[in-house]
Amino acid sequence: MKLVIDADDAGLKLKRDLIDHLGSTGVEIQDLNYLGKTPDATYPEIGYNLAVKIKDEEYDRGILICGTGLGMAMIANKVESVYAGSCHDVYSAERLRKSNDAQVLTMGARVVGVELAKTIVDAWLEAEFQGGGSTSKVETMRRLENQSFHPNTQL
Ligand code: RB5
Repeated sequence: MKLVIDADDAGLKLKRDLIDHLGSTGVEIQDLNYLGKTPDATYPEIGYNLAVKIKDEEYDRGILICGTGLGMAMIANKVESVYAGSCHDVYSAERLRKSNDAQVLTMGARVVGVELAKTIVDAWLEAEFQGGGSTSKVETMRRLENQSFHPNTQL
């Protein structure tokens, strides 16, 4: 699984802590470091940059950190075929994969402590889409997404 991470100014420290944590468990993650290359960038540009790479299948899953996790989730969800959710508890992070089949986890560095954030990321990485009763719901989401992005296409 190819993983990617990025953060805005509010999320930089948590991003580094998570990279260190994953490294210590042998999980490789690519840091896009958009802010390092574009110092004026804010969460919409940073989140968009990562989400497009998920859309283009350069990476399988991504983590985006900002102050609340909300702005990053909002912008990532604007990119076609990308599904993101903000999670600050382990149960939601598991369901984000198992029920919703989302590729992007977002978190707020001003909301969650570093130890909980590590546990959330670990749970999210271990979880996979469960199929079953969730399949038709995710398919419906994708159908409606297609209608939204391509309104002139017949369903
Ligand atoms: C700070 O720019 C803050 O607005 C941002 O990190 C994020 O929380 C937005 O959703």
